[in-house]
Amino acid sequence: MSRLLLALTSLFAIAVASTAQARVDDSSYAEPDRVRVADIGLDLRVDFENKQLRGSADLRLNWIADDARDLVLDTRDLTIEKVLGKSVEGGWHRLNWELADADPLFGSRLTIHMSRQYPIVRIRYQTSPQASGLQWLTPEMTAGKKSPFMFSQSQAIHARSWVPLQDTPSVRYTYSAHIESDPSLMVLMSADNQTDATRDGDYVFRMRQPIPSYLMAIAAGDLVFQPISERSGVWAEPATIEAAAVEFADTEKMIATTESLYGPYRWERYDMLILPPSFPYGGMENPRISFITPTVIVGDKSLVSLIAHELAHSWSGNLVTNASWNDIWLNEGFTSYVENRVVEALYGKEQSQMEDVISQHGLDLELKEMNPKWQALAMPALGTTDPDEVSSGVPYVKGAWFLQFLEQRFGREVFDPFLRGWFDSHAFQSVNSAEFVAYLHENLLPKNPKAVTEKELDAWLNQPGIPKFAKRATSERLDAVDKARQRWLDGKGVASDIKTADWITQEWVHFLEGMPETLSNAQLVELDQAFHFTGTRNGEIAQRWYPLTVRSGYFEARPAIAEFLKRIGRRKLIMPTYRALIEAGGDNLKLAREVYAEAKAGYHPITSGSVEALLAKADAAK
Ligand code: BES
Ligand code: ZN
Repeated sequence: MSRLLLALTSLFAIAVASTAQARVDDSSYAEPDRVRVADIGLDLRVDFENKQLRGSADLRLNWIADDARDLVLDTRDLTIEKVLGKSVEGGWHRLNWELADADPLFGSRLTIHMSRQYPIVRIRYQTSPQASGLQWLTPEMTAGKKSPFMFSQSQAIHARSWVPLQDTPSVRYTYSAHIESDPSLMVLMSADNQTDATRDGDYVFRMRQPIPSYLMAIAAGDLVFQPISERSGVWAEPATIEAAAVEFADTEKMIATTESLYGPYRWERYDMLILPPSFPYGGMENPRISFITPTVIVGDKSLVSLIAHELAHSWSGNLVTNASWNDIWLNEGFTSYVENRVVEALYGKEQSQMEDVISQHGLDLELKEMNPKWQALAMPALGTTDPDEVSSGVPYVKGAWFLQFLEQRFGREVFDPFLRGWFDSHAFQSVNSAEFVAYLHENLLPKNPKAVTEKELDAWLNQPGIPKFAKRATSERLDAVDKARQRWLDGKGVASDIKTADWITQEWVHFLEGMPETLSNAQLVELDQAFHFTGTRNGEIAQRWYPLTVRSGYFEARPAIAEFLKRIGRRKLIMPTYRALIEAGGDNLKLAREVYAEAKAGYHPITSGSVEALLAKADAAK
C-alpha cells in the first residue's frame, strides 16, 4: 500500500470511529443508525413446566434520525403479545407492530410503528420451549438430579430468542431485571449477582456498564456460592462446588496478573458459574460471571487456561467489542493472546508454549479443509453466513499468533503498553478491523518503522493461511513426548515403560495427536492397558483417543464411546468422535445414529444442530 493510501485509510477509519454509529452488521435486522436501545428493563417469570420465559421488556430508546418512526428489532421464535409506547408525559399507548416471516438463520424482524418518537417501548412476550439461546434441563440432566436447570447462551445471535432487541454487537446498553422463579432455585444473570442472596424466587439485577446483546445471560438452578477471593468465586451445584473451587483457586491471581498488564478490571466482581455437562461451549465470557463447562475440572489445573481466556474477555471483547461477527478475531484473537500471557505469567513459559504448539497444530489441520475466504483475520462481510460457523481456529489461533508476531518484532516493553492503550482508548466501544489497523499505524508502527512491512501486515490480516515468516511455537516437553511416541512406534520399548508419571493433559493430547491415522489392534490394546484411555474422564484425551479407535476398528472402545457422547454435550469435545463414526460408515455410522437418538434430548440446540448437520451430510452422500 502506498503511503498516501495508508494515510487515507487511517483517516477513514478515524472518521468512522468518531462518528461511531453507522455500521453494518449482516446478522441483524436492527437499524442502529436510526434509533438505538440505550437500556433494557426485563420483568420475566422462569416457567420450567412450560419451558418458557414470560413477561415484558422495556426498551429505552435513543432516537438518532429525526424522521425515524419505526423501531426494528430482532426476534426468534418469540410470541409477541402486546406493544406499548410510553410518552414523555408518562402515558402508555398501544402500538402497531408486525412480525415478519421467520428466516431460519436470523429469525423474525419485528417492526414497531409509531406516530412519534416514544422514549420507551414495552413489549409483552413469551419465549418458545425451543428457544435457540436457552436450554431447559430436567433434574436427571444435572449433577444433583433433584432440581431442574436453565441457562442461556446468547453469542452469537441467540439473545433474540429470549429478548426482543437489537441483536448486534455494534449496540451497547445497560439493563436491569426482575426475575421470578420457583423459590427453591437461584437465579443468576450477567449483572450484579448477590453472593449472599436469599433464595426466595424473587430476584433483581442491575448491569450498569453498557454491554452488547450477546453478553446478556441468565441461569437458574440449585446453585450455591463459594468465594475464592474478595471479588471472585464460583457458583455451582452443591455436588460440584468443592472441586470447582479447588480447580479454579488461582482466579484471583489471574485477575491481578491481567490487571498488571492491561489495566484495572472494570466489572467489579468476577465469578464463574459451572454448568451441567451439556453446556455446548468450553466457556462463555458473560460479564461478571463467566459460564464454564464442568469438563475442565480434571483435578490438576491443567485446563484452567480456559478461565484465563474467559477472564481476558473482560478486556478484549466485553470492553472492546467486535462491531460485527466478521471481525470476531478482535474478540477471540486478542483474548487468546492475553490468555497465553496470563498462563505464562502464572504457570511458566513451558506451559504457555505447550498450549501454543497444540493450538497451532490444530489450526494447521483445520486450514487444510477450510474455504480460503474465511482464512483472513479481517473476514469479508458475512452476508447470509451463520456467524457461529465462521468462529474457527482462524480468529483464535491466527489472531493470537499475529499479536505474538507484533510482540516479537517490537518487544514487550513497547507492545504491552500499546495493547493496554488500545483497550483504554476503546473501552465500552465496538470496533472493526480498519479501526485497529489505523490505531496500529498511529501508535505502534512509528515506534520502530522498520520492524514490520505492509506486506507482512497484509499477509496476516487479508490473506489466507499462516504467513511463511510466522515463528512457530516450540516446547521441550512436547519434543520429549514426540521422542517417546516415536520410540514406541518404532518398536523400541513398550508403552508402560514411557515415563508418564508427571504428564499433564497437554502431553497426553500431543502424544495422541502425533499418532498415525490408524494403529493395530495390538498397539491400541497395549496403550489402553498402560494408560487406560478408554473410559477416561478427561474430555481432551477422549476427544483424541476415540476417533483413533474408530478409524482403527478397535471395537472394544464402543461402549465407552457411547457413554462419553451421551454424558457430554460440549461441542468441541464430542464432534471429532461423531465425525470419525460417520466417516467410517457402516456399523459406526449406525452407532452414531443410535447414540445421537438417545443423547439428543440432553443436548443443547447448538450441539444437536451440529450433529444433525453431519448426519444429514452422510445421508446426502448415500
Ligand atoms: N466467546 C467464546 C465462545 C463462543 C464463540 C460462543 C463464538 C459462540 C460463538 C468463548 O470465549 C470461547 O472462546 N470459548 C472456547 C474456549 C477457549 C479457551 C478457546 C470454547 O468454548 O471452546
Ligand atoms: Zn473466547
